[in-house]
Amino acid sequence: MRRTSIGSHTSITVHLDAGDLRQALCRDVLAGLGAVHKSLPPKWFYDERGSQLFDEITRLDEYYPTRRETEILQREAPTIARRTGATTLLELGSGTSTKTKLILDALMDAGTLAHIVPFDVCEAIVREALPVLAARYPGVQVDGVVGDFEQHLGLLEMGDHTLVAFLGGTIGNLSPVERSKFLRELADQMHSGDWLLLGTDLVKDPARLVAAYADAAGVTAAFNLNVLRVLNRELEGNLVLEHFGHVAQWRPEEQWIEMHLRSLRAQEARLDVLGLDLVFAAGEQLQTEISAKFTLASIENELSGAGLTLEEVFTDAAQDFAVSLAFKP
Ligand SMILES: C[S@@+](CC[C@H](N)C(=O)[O-])C[C@H]1O[C@@H](n2cnc3c(N)ncnc32)[C@H](O)[C@@H]1O
Repeated sequence: MRRTSIGSHTSITVHLDAGDLRQALCRDVLAGLGAVHKSLPPKWFYDERGSQLFDEITRLDEYYPTRRETEILQREAPTIARRTGATTLLELGSGTSTKTKLILDALMDAGTLAHIVPFDVCEAIVREALPVLAARYPGVQVDGVVGDFEQHLGLLEMGDHTLVAFLGGTIGNLSPVERSKFLRELADQMHSGDWLLLGTDLVKDPARLVAAYADAAGVTAAFNLNVLRVLNRELEGNLVLEHFGHVAQWRPEEQWIEMHLRSLRAQEARLDVLGLDLVFAAGEQLQTEISAKFTLASIENELSGAGLTLEEVFTDAAQDFAVSLAFKP
């Protein structure tokens, strides 16, 4: 672990440096690409380019979740600030923290905000967010953390009166088993009276769901293919991006969207760092992401299963997206 002060009120702590990331990537690639049904965890999309592509996705016409979540936060931020009285805002999977500024502004207006902790697996995006947050909230301590929220929650020091924000529907990228483990670990880490603000996409018309993950401009396709660039760069691979196609499918029985890369031909590739030869049959699919969709009942069940008490669920006018406020009793 490495903590570096950047300015008088700003620091960055790196739990995952380039070497750790590469080791974790090697483990995930050996397990995921060595399996009968090939898969990779979605966190590997997010190098600097992947984070920029995700930011572009959030502005696409088809990608309604960001607009809906923004609408909810714009309306409810003052209520959330008043109810929580939070002094620390810890954001998991913070990215650019764009929407989070609505909550931060409200906490600033309420006079309670003292500490902001953006936490993300992508070091470049945390480094980009820090000066922006420090300039917007003068006098507030801004401590960025580079880590994996499936691994490093136990290393977080949570002060009293913390509001944990986990926005963008990112929790849907975890499988049900991973979600329940993650929520329990998070709840264990929180102090009594701390709050969780959780953004979740809601089950809806499959055509709209699929369109949100298969936009006409092909930005999501480029984001999906970016994982192959990451493999080529980090593991000295020779995967040819043009030989894979982007697939987004709704799985009604699982209630999630799956993203895959489909091999457009029978092909072989090699990852030199691992000495790993990959064989893809024509049409074979490599799963790169799930994005689970929720109902108001399933959100409450999962939160209560982790020992958190749901205070209120806020939705947008179209009931597309939910932002849930829960506390640790
Ligand atoms: C879907 S984006 C959401 C970004 C932002 N919170 C928003 O609402 O627009 C997911 C974010 O979580 C980060 N992320 C993904 N997996 C992660 C992990 N295991 N640990 C920490 N951050 C992760 C990504 O780098 C990315 O910034």
